[in-house]
Amino acid sequence: MTAKRIGLLTSGGDAPGMNAVVRAVVRTARASGAEVLGIRRGYNGLINGDVVELGSNDVRGLNSRGGTILFTARCAEFQTEEGQQRAAQTCKYLGIDALICVGGDGTFRGALDLSKHGVPSVGIPATIDNDIACTNYTIGFDTACNTAIEAIDRLRDTMHSHERCSLVEVMGRKAGHLAVYVGIAVGANAILVPERPYDFQTDIADKIRRTRIQGRSHFDVIVAEGAGNIHEIAGQIKEETGLDPRVTILGHIQRGGAPGARDRVTAARMGRHAVELLAQGRHNRVVCLCDGQLKDMDIGEALKMKKDLQETMYETARILSSG
Ligand code: F6P
Repeated sequence: MTAKRIGLLTSGGDAPGMNAVVRAVVRTARASGAEVLGIRRGYNGLINGDVVELGSNDVRGLNSRGGTILFTARCAEFQTEEGQQRAAQTCKYLGIDALICVGGDGTFRGALDLSKHGVPSVGIPATIDNDIACTNYTIGFDTACNTAIEAIDRLRDTMHSHERCSLVEVMGRKAGHLAVYVGIAVGANAILVPERPYDFQTDIADKIRRTRIQGRSHFDVIVAEGAGNIHEIAGQIKEETGLDPRVTILGHIQRGGAPGARDRVTAARMGRHAVELLAQGRHNRVVCLCDGQLKDMDIGEALKMKKDLQETMYETARILSSG
């Protein structure tokens, strides 16, 4: 069935480019004669009927805005059967034919749950973690990398002046994609990620000693948040090498800001593709970007896939940080 009234929600951690998706979905839907109801606060909004009509004018100028005008939330009630039934009931009550759910794998699990209650959907991957296996790229990743790089470049100036050891924690939940890209881009001396075990002596202490022999006392470590406790690692460095490291946790700053070109354009392409899937009556799909090509995959199949680090990227990071 072709969707005439589409519900659109953003859920989980926000990502730069989510608003550009909202714009793309609304404009594509309007162009094909469908209407869009924005559901506010993710699955919470679906449970509570918290909706707003979105016309072409409502999405004007959204491409450059970070965050999400629809707000987002992580919703515990939606994990329950009762919560899911209430959400499905809202769709029925408001005449929502299908949903477009923008977010990470938690968002897609929600969409899959709803499909079991008769609500069809399409997922669009948007998370700064880039940890969704069915797609090479998730909206927000590139902007978050650039935000982290800019902050670390600034840090490096002062760390270099004081000849200090700097440890910077980047986000990524259980994944190290952000850490690897950022680490390569800033030319870090060591990059710690959850997917690959590290040996403190070889990967940090020996490298610091080698750097000293080369006459330099400045040392940069990028730590993915899932790779271990950054304060403990700093303590270990202090104990083993006598350095007095400084720890910086970039935190939520990585999620904010205007999206860059890559995220705006990917959002436009994926938003359009999602609406077209619904127009063709193709449901329960996730939009994916594979080798630059837009594709789509069954949500259930997509959620079964596991994503590892790109080995060539990790290897590049390892070689270039070897001093
Ligand atoms: O998934 C995006 C993300 O920013 C992760 O990198 C991070 O671990 C998490 O969300 C933080 O979540 P919250 O905003 O709930 O603190």
